Amino acid sequence: MHTYRLNADVTVLNDQLEVPGIGFLPVNAFVLHAREPVVIDTGLGLPDRDFVQTLSAVMDPADVRWIWLTHPDRDHTGGLFKLLDAAPQARLITTFLGAGFMSTERPLPLDRLYLLNPGEKLDVGDRTLHAFRPPLFDNPATVGFYDDRSRTSFSSDCFGAPLATAELAAACDVGEVPATDLLGAQLLWATIDSPWVHNIDTARYLQTVRTMQAADADVILSTHLPPAIRTSSRLFDMLALAPGADPFVGPDQQSLQAMLASFEPVALGPR
Ligand SMILES: [Fe+2]
Ligand SMILES: [Fe+2]
Repeated sequence: MHTYRLNADVTVLNDQLEVPGIGFLPVNAFVLHAREPVVIDTGLGLPDRDFVQTLSAVMDPADVRWIWLTHPDRDHTGGLFKLLDAAPQARLITTFLGAGFMSTERPLPLDRLYLLNPGEKLDVGDRTLHAFRPPLFDNPATVGFYDDRSRTSFSSDCFGAPLATAELAAACDVGEVPATDLLGAQLLWATIDSPWVHNIDTARYLQTVRTMQAADADVILSTHLPPAIRTSSRLFDMLALAPGADPFVGPDQQSLQAMLASFEPVALGPR
């Protein structure tokens, strides 16, 4: 993981996953440096990752006041229970459904939960966070938010893109990705992560796009995309194209066998 301060308000805790045949998928968590500091998501749960240690380079975990779990998928919950231990003052923001999902792994302390639904808001001392459901999502517990002080939208899985190189997945600005590559990669992600987008009332879906766009955020942050700084109209144009994009069909068993056959045989030394 690498961390960087995006601006006065936000630090990015950037990680990534290489997906064979697809690309390098950013996996970001964030710190919002509010008067009551907020950690947004907690990264991957792979054995060699230590989210709390990574966070310690950014701030004292004991000072975290809020953990905003945008949804309880495993690329967002990696450090959650350790962080709850390391941040005894922190309340966990999720939904009733999100808490239910998490309880299948380990019970959550109910007195530390803060249930927040789309449309509700939360005061974190020097700003108000406005909860909303992003237009695209892969988990029914998903809730993102708009910070009205930094004019930043935290959009969870919406807007993600597998990128061509590890360097691009670690980029500090999505503007580093060539525009034509970005559109294709975002549409691929949209159809992988939100396959339902092909089977919905498009007019009602587009209304959710317009509602998010109306917030007029200066910065859009996604778990799976480098930060988008004052480039939002391109992102919303992409969302409008998602219902008509080619549906994603994953590799089948034949493809897997072809991939396995292409691997270099391991050279065995003398026994
Ligand atoms: Fe997800
Ligand atoms: Fe995700």
